Amino acid sequence: MDEELEPLFDEDAIRNKMQELADRISRDYAGSDLVIVCVLKAAAFFAADLARSLAVPSRIAFVCASSYGASTSAVTEVEIRKDIEIDISGKHVLLVDTIADSGRTLAALTARYAQRGPASIRSAVLLDKRSRRTADLRLNYVGFEIPDLFVVGYGMDFAEKYRNLPYIAVLPSSDTEGEGNRPGT
Ligand code: IMP
Ligand code: MG
Repeated sequence: MDEELEPLFDEDAIRNKMQELADRISRDYAGSDLVIVCVLKAAAFFAADLARSLAVPSRIAFVCASSYGASTSAVTEVEIRKDIEIDISGKHVLLVDTIADSGRTLAALTARYAQRGPASIRSAVLLDKRSRRTADLRLNYVGFEIPDLFVVGYGMDFAEKYRNLPYIAVLPSSDTEGEGNRPGT
């Protein structure tokens, strides 16, 4: 383990919470087909684990999105580097990200995909830094609510490092100083 990282959630804690969310989602979507939209890159691992734990049929699509601009602004602008290819009209859509921070990424994606006529659109995150929310976003499935910490691992990076850690850890705040608005994928 990287010695400057402080573990927050180990693999068991992540797996148990992920399964709990998968069970709730499976109950809520029983009898319907689901399109999981994985918000790259951070959600790559969580969405893959979640999709494999669901008891309902699902398809998986990937969007590569990055929020930018001042995180205090209420403007929900995100850059879409790669969009989903699946036609979601009439489909139940579940946006999946590992973490919600300002909420701008998921708020913008919700607005974007709502225009394509889905049957429903909801969002799921493993971690919620609710105290940092600036966007108007209602999350439907939340694993853990966490304080304003910068976390890495299980898909989440700092300068593209640490995504592949199987656990979630806190990066000391001195390491993230100067990072500005912390835009991310
Ligand atoms: P939001 O649009 O501000 O909610 O930001 C969401 C994105 O920012 C997530 O998909 C992550 O990629 C990134 N992000 C937010 N907080 C963290 C963190 O603590 N560590 C790593 N990435 C983060
Ligand atoms: Mg990032």
